[in-house]
Amino acid sequence: MKTKKIILFASGSGSNVENIANYFKLRKDVTICCVLTNKRDAKVIDRCNRLEITALSFNRQAFSKSDFILNMLQSLEPDLIVLAGFLWKIPETITNAFPKQIVNIHPALLPKYGGKGMYGMNVHNAVKKHKETETGITIHYVNAHYDEGTIIKQAKAQLTKVDSAEDIAAKVHQLEYEYFPKVIDEILLKQ
Ligand code: GAR
Repeated sequence: MKTKKIILFASGSGSNVENIANYFKLRKDVTICCVLTNKRDAKVIDRCNRLEITALSFNRQAFSKSDFILNMLQSLEPDLIVLAGFLWKIPETITNAFPKQIVNIHPALLPKYGGKGMYGMNVHNAVKKHKETETGITIHYVNAHYDEGTIIKQAKAQLTKVDSAEDIAAKVHQLEYEYFPKVIDEILLKQ
């Protein structure tokens, strides 16, 4: 049995990274090869230290102004690249090299509240401002355009008038923890 390799990208806290790592911890058929971050002080690095997962940070030069990260990804031969709270746009050289092999989680029901600048609390604040009665998560393939790749899974959370933006974030995180690892698992199984 070939072990499937996942590479994760994250920019912030990394609670999804930790949740995914815990989900696959006892699995011999799936391994997290490394976590890559664009922020050298991101909390996700502390989590990786604790979880004993390799973590590396990179700058724009490595990511989009040269082919350094592209070459690194190609040499690591991941089965799946997972964006778990990663905020930079993926360069076309990378999306072209890994068609249908990069997935992202977005903390809203796309196409609503997607696009440039729509990440993390910005999304939840906008959902609150527009008095939405529901929000949710969208797991989708990544193409060259922000939040526009084919949708793989959406899940909804109901909102009440008294929910703050922080309450909305908590409801969305709950859905992320429940569904993201399972969807990753399903994609890997189908490959
Ligand atoms: C998650 O809610 C994820 O959906 C969102 O960032 C958060 C990261 O949380 N991603 C985006 O907004 C991408 N546009 P985490 O660092 O605790 O996993």
